[in-house]
Amino acid sequence: MARGNVCLVGIVIALSSCCFHLLAAQQITLPLEVSLITAVTALRAIRRKLKDPLNNLINWKKSDPCIANWTGVICIFDPSDAYLHVKELRLLNKNLSGTLAPELGQLSYMQILDFMWNDITGSIPKEIGKITALQLLLLSGNQISGPLPDELGFLPNLTKFQLDLNNISGPIPKSFANLPQVKHFHMNNNSISGQIPPELSALPLLQHM
Ligand SMILES: *[C@@H]1O[C@H](CO)[C@@H](O)[C@H](O)[C@H]1NC(C)=O
Ligand SMILES: *[C@@H]1O[C@H](CO)[C@@H](O)[C@H](O)[C@H]1NC(C)=O
Ligand SMILES: *[C@@H]1O[C@H](CO)[C@@H](O)[C@H](O)[C@H]1NC(C)=O
Ligand SMILES: *[C@@H]1O[C@H](CO)[C@@H](O)[C@H](O)[C@H]1NC(C)=O
Ligand SMILES: *[C@@H]1O[C@H](CO)[C@@H](O)[C@H](O)[C@H]1NC(C)=O
Repeated sequence: MARGNVCLVGIVIALSSCCFHLLAAQQITLPLEVSLITAVTALRAIRRKLKDPLNNLINWKKSDPCIANWTGVICIFDPSDAYLHVKELRLLNKNLSGTLAPELGQLSYMQILDFMWNDITGSIPKEIGKITALQLLLLSGNQISGPLPDELGFLPNLTKFQLDLNNISGPIPKSFANLPQVKHFHMNNNSISGQIPPELSALPLLQHM
């Protein structure tokens, strides 16, 4: 009985190590997966709109951001399709100026977008509203202006939206009352006008505003 178990454990380990190697080989040898090609194109477009005096993004050149370890680009293995996807863009405090490119909206697997404490100007691209996987949208401490796009109110998994210390103007769109998961919504030190839509108080999980 005990021997049978040991044997079974041996087979399971052999099988899982075989499959692990297959997966690892697949990640390296297959041609770049389509979503990664899209992500590379988008990241290049994003970089072109930024000014980067400290050359933090100098390594955003080599073909694959996941294997070549581009600064701030975090790829995570997705068991559902066995590919690496760009899931985080963490560019906190990198002395970046320039604007946010609409191509951000093409990073469709992205969960965390962090540009806090830079000198970004221009407006929030409405295309960010297409990133349905987005959980954290962190833009505090820049000089972002213009209105809040309605489209951001349709992000089903957004839990945290930090936009304090910018120069956003106009009202909070009514669509923001659709954000089912939002817990933290930081907007202070902007030029928000008008009333807070009463619907926002109905947000089920909102804890900090
Ligand atoms: C990726 O780059 C960061 C800093 O740029 C470094 O700390 C890290 O060790 C690198 N990781 C790999 C796997 O090369
Ligand atoms: C980075 O930006 C900060 C604030 O804008 C500035 O005080 C600092 O001097 C900059 N650092 C460099 C090395 O340029
Ligand atoms: C939202 O989160 C849920 C639970 O984690 C997940 O199952 C779902 O795929 C996410 N939606 C998107 C569009 O990523
Ligand atoms: C903020 O935006 C307003 C216009 O909406 C502009 O007049 C003002 O100069 C901006 N302030 C800063 C600090 O960028
Ligand atoms: C934020 O706004 C408050 C009130 O308008 C002001 O007293 C404070 O100095 C501002 N903080 C910063 C860092 O701009």
